[in-house]
Amino acid sequence: MIFTSMPHGTSVKAMPELVSTGLKIIDLSADYRLKDPKDYPEWYGWDHPHPDLLSKFVLGIPELHRQRIRESNLVACPGCMAVTSILALAPVVKEKLIDNDRIIVDAKIGSSGAGIKPTVATHHSERFGVVRVYKPVGHRHTAEIEQELSLLANGKVTVSFSPHAVNMVRGILCTIHTFPRGELSSPVLWKAYRGLYQSEPFVRLVKDKKGLYRYPDPKIIVGSNYCDVGFEVDEHASRLILFSATDNLMKGAAGSAVQCMNIMCGFAETEGLTLPGFHPM
Ligand SMILES: NC(=O)c1ccc[n+]([C@@H]2O[C@H](COP(=O)([O-])OP(=O)(O)OC[C@H]3O[C@@H](n4cnc5c(N)ncnc54)[C@H](OP(=O)(O)O)[C@@H]3O)[C@@H](O)[C@H]2O)c1
Repeated sequence: MIFTSMPHGTSVKAMPELVSTGLKIIDLSADYRLKDPKDYPEWYGWDHPHPDLLSKFVLGIPELHRQRIRESNLVACPGCMAVTSILALAPVVKEKLIDNDRIIVDAKIGSSGAGIKPTVATHHSERFGVVRVYKPVGHRHTAEIEQELSLLANGKVTVSFSPHAVNMVRGILCTIHTFPRGELSSPVLWKAYRGLYQSEPFVRLVKDKKGLYRYPDPKIIVGSNYCDVGFEVDEHASRLILFSATDNLMKGAAGSAVQCMNIMCGFAETEGLTLPGFHPM
């Protein structure tokens, strides 16, 4: 088993030689996530040098592709904000409950999302204390989110995706504004989420009337492989708001990779991933 976790644009070159070993490979970069080679010049600015390999990689989201991951030797793990958005949206897109061209994802992410090497913008003295608009249009994770939701919808889905850098080290919170196709009630939504996730070990539906953590919150899942999802219906504005939270280094990266490894190798899917998270952090 080989894990590759290099900057995007680097994995893409190393991959043919690694694939030729015949070993199972899990790549954490973006280089083999997108299925349509035309997406690479559009979202990454370069032509994919090995488009023949793209269809051989399965996107590492077990909740959507478990069987294909089990049967595959090649898995590309999704982007951290992409998987957090996709898991919140998948049930309502699959059940055709919302307009597929009016989906607005407002994401917030901690500093570890930028990797280990500090730049002027990510150096502690600049990054500490920020609530910074970061790539409000054209963020690359948009392509993955649209790819996966379009598959579920069996038609084109358009996503408006705007991330923000906030004052956390680990964690992502997505607040997702959507617009229902008709009247929506909580029981219909519960049914959609339970239908997709009731047997999932790492997706929890968080929607409580009492207590401090009534909606998904990255603070209580840091260190865990959970993706918490939740929703609220806004009757006043005919809006359905979805929420999702992950630890970008766990379900957003290494946790997903281990979950996929467990599936590919026939281990228990939760092996090595049962940490409940650290709280308070
Ligand atoms: N951080 C996240 O939240 C997150 C989440 C999901 C996916 N990802 C993706 O995962 C990948 C790694 O992200 P990261 O945050 O861990 O980045 P990172 O902290 O910057 O680490 C990148 C690693 O790649 C190594 N590397 C760079 N060029 C290489 C080469 N030519 N050959 C071999 N190794 C090379 C670096 O080693 P040196 O230090 O020796 O150069 C470094 O250890 C990226 O593609 C990123 O987009 C990151």
